[in-house]
Amino acid sequence: MERTLSIIKPDAVAKNVIGEIYTRFERAGLKIVAARMKHLSREEAEGFYAVHRERPFFKDLVAFMMSGPVMVQVLEGEDAIARNRELMGATDPQQAAPGTIRADFATSIDANAVHGSDGADTAKEEIAFFFGDDEIYSR
Ligand code: PPS
Repeated sequence: MERTLSIIKPDAVAKNVIGEIYTRFERAGLKIVAARMKHLSREEAEGFYAVHRERPFFKDLVAFMMSGPVMVQVLEGEDAIARNRELMGATDPQQAAPGTIRADFATSIDANAVHGSDGADTAKEEIAFFFGDDEIYSR
């Protein structure tokens, strides 16, 4: 069993597709074991994306992530990290395979509907960024 952090970004929350995205997680065998809706502060958005601090898009990314509420969840299942990334599709929705979350719901590379941890170490860090051990309910 593996865990990954998923964020439904402000664009997808505004489009009212949280339920549709949750259904995709569940159909793929990923269990939602923690979840919280949150409006990120600047400090939280900058902290979460600190690895991208030097990238040209950092300012816009932070502004976008603060632009409305997000839905943050921990997904658990076999190969959860890779499975979630498959469901999400490529970062740029123009490149995302048909039927993926980004192909279906994302607007642009900036407003691309979802985030998912990209590896085991990042998943651990990102889960701990949002949730304490006592807030994760796996059986
Ligand atoms: S990259 O380019 O391979 O490093 O991209 P990635 O590691 O997937 O993560 C980049 C995150 O920044 C968001 N973002 C952008 N990426 C590339 N170009 C532009 N213009 C851009 N704007 C925003 C992108 O959605 C990734 O966010 P997360 O939440 O990590 O998926």
